[in-house]
Amino acid sequence: MAPSAARSRFVLLALFGMLVFTFLLFGGHGSSADGLSSRSQAVLNNEGSSGVSSGAVLTGHAIAPKLGNATAKAELGRAAWKVLHTTFARFPEKPTPEEKEALRSYVHLFQRLYPCGECAEHFGKVLAKYPPQVSSRSAAAMWGCMVHNIVNKRLQKPQFNCEDIGDAYDCGCGDDDKKEKDAAPA
Ligand SMILES: Cc1cc2nc3c(=O)[nH]c(=O)nc-3n(C[C@H](O)[C@H](O)[C@H](O)COP(=O)(O)OP(=O)(O)OC[C@H]3O[C@@H](n4cnc5c(N)ncnc54)[C@H](O)[C@@H]3O)c2cc1C
Ligand SMILES: *[C@@H]1O[C@H](CO)[C@@H](O)[C@H](O)[C@H]1NC(C)=O
Repeated sequence: MAPSAARSRFVLLALFGMLVFTFLLFGGHGSSADGLSSRSQAVLNNEGSSGVSSGAVLTGHAIAPKLGNATAKAELGRAAWKVLHTTFARFPEKPTPEEKEALRSYVHLFQRLYPCGECAEHFGKVLAKYPPQVSSRSAAAMWGCMVHNIVNKRLQKPQFNCEDIGDAYDCGCGDDDKKEKDAAPA
């Protein structure tokens, strides 16, 4: 075989290799929005790790000022816990990676923006030690019960029995849930 034929075959092969390499390179970076979210999803699947897609936004300083009025603080707390526990109770039992990310971000921002600044600061330390569990409805509900109990303990309130958490925030929404799914699959 003529040496020039072998060389041109080699050149062609090298060119092809470079093309593939460039394609792979751009495939990763070119669709930067998708690339980023799939990367953070991969990290999210590995629970417990925190703050990849988030950066400082999710875990920065508590934003609201101190809430001095004890009556307002207690009212706010009851309403806030109700929203949180009900959110967990209605979270999917089998969430998608994106839904897990939504809940994780929500809990962190709920803390950061909580209107009682000193409460938010304390709760930030709880989250740092016990990051939100977002793998399933039951994991999230149990986690919510546990962190509420940590706050209860600090405020010298009675502990809640977390085995009852499934019943406590079953708002009787079971039927709604089914109807909604039939009406508007989303
Ligand atoms: C994130 C966060 C941080 C807070 N930090 C502070 C703070 O630093 N200082 C402060 O003074 N107040 C704080 N609060 C408010 C405080 O937790 C109470 O909400 C408030 O004192 C009113 O208490 P409560 O006795 O009415 O019952 P809450 O603690 O508000 O609970 C409401 C109801 O939820 C049920 N419940 C109780 N424990 C659990 C549990 N573990 N799981 C599920 N359900 C339960 C019970 O039925 C209870 O009556 C915080 C609230 C939130 C949401
Ligand atoms: C404290 O908060 C309660 C409930 O929001 C409100 O009714 C009350 O007027 C407040 N007290 C003061 C001193 O602002």
